[in-house]
Amino acid sequence: VRAPLDPEAVERCLAPFGRSFTLPPEAYTSQAVFDWERRHLFEEAWTCVGRGADLGPGQARGVRSGSQGVLLGRDGRGTLRAFSNVCRHRGHELVETGLTVEARVIRCPYHAWVYGPDGALRAAPSFAGVEGFDRSEYRLSDLPVEQWHGWAFVNVSGTAPALPGYLGEVLDGLLAPYEPERLVAAARHDYVVEANWKLVVENYHECYHCTNLHPELCRVSPHDSGNAFTPDGVWVGGRMDLMPHAETMSLSGASGGVPLRGLTEEGRRRVVYVGTIPNLLVSAHPDYVMTHRLHPEGPGRTRIECEWLFAPESLDRAGFDPSYASEFWDITNRQDWRACESVQRGMANVGARQGPLSPREGDVYKVVSIVARAYRDGILGPPPRLPEPAAGRVGLSTA
Ligand code: FES
Ligand SMILES: [Fe+2]
Repeated sequence: VRAPLDPEAVERCLAPFGRSFTLPPEAYTSQAVFDWERRHLFEEAWTCVGRGADLGPGQARGVRSGSQGVLLGRDGRGTLRAFSNVCRHRGHELVETGLTVEARVIRCPYHAWVYGPDGALRAAPSFAGVEGFDRSEYRLSDLPVEQWHGWAFVNVSGTAPALPGYLGEVLDGLLAPYEPERLVAAARHDYVVEANWKLVVENYHECYHCTNLHPELCRVSPHDSGNAFTPDGVWVGGRMDLMPHAETMSLSGASGGVPLRGLTEEGRRRVVYVGTIPNLLVSAHPDYVMTHRLHPEGPGRTRIECEWLFAPESLDRAGFDPSYASEFWDITNRQDWRACESVQRGMANVGARQGPLSPREGDVYKVVSIVARAYRDGILGPPPRLPEPAAGRVGLSTA
């Protein structure tokens, strides 16, 4: 199903890098496009719904993917399950979005139907003896759910390829040394950004704006360093170097933790920035991993959950304080959100047009290509390959 956009405008996005254009303004402002995206770019994709560790055994949580309410649960044996968050009786939501409940069983708040952690209907008050009523016909609808390096992903439509194939092998190899699955969240900020979710993703994937927006960042990371990766899955990303004096991304460049144990000497000198489409951005530093999870709430509004994950060894240090990382990125995030919100207003301006991309916006091209190809062909796949050394997040510099 094609997206409700001018096909010629979409085609302009798919021209070869250097001759292509950004998405048309309506892609950021139209409710019809937003509805199309929630269905085809969120519900039909693998959407990140949080960290697996957020949910202990016997807990359940209401989350969302696209327009859909999802009930995420962990049974007593520790297996993560996902169901459509709707009661089989008359359709009440089982757990409110954002709430976590302690639940050996899941009880509908409306008429108290009770479901087991496996989704089976265990009890339906007053139905005893009702002829033809068979509890086994009313189990919750299962949804595919997977954990990957500690993050939980759901595919509401049930039609996406298996998660490892969706993400490809390259990304796994890039993040494995950081062992994200073993890291612990020590700080979190929730933001509401008055901008389309794609503006946040596109902004994340370039540092063309860094000298203009991010004085603090430019003091610890050369804005034109690094290179882009060549994704074999539905993601985009690149890496940047640290300044010689900087141990990590912080206001002073000093780390308040310990380096992640799996990193080589080289790995400790860089930051890896990757984003799975549609909604997880992972920024892997020598001593912490920051994530942004994007939850679109409307064409012009995105809720962002930002988390900072550290090694248990860092948390064990006396007086450990994660703010060296979270404060730095909170400052930087807000600089970015201001720009995204301004672009959102720009997109609503009658004078807005599709614009060209610089050689330093290769990874924006990849994001735009993934989205535009989905708009045109309904296919959610890896971005096009760009020549090596890849033009990317940071430009045409060498590896
Ligand atoms: S709607 Fe859930 S018990 Fe009635
Ligand atoms: Fe930025």
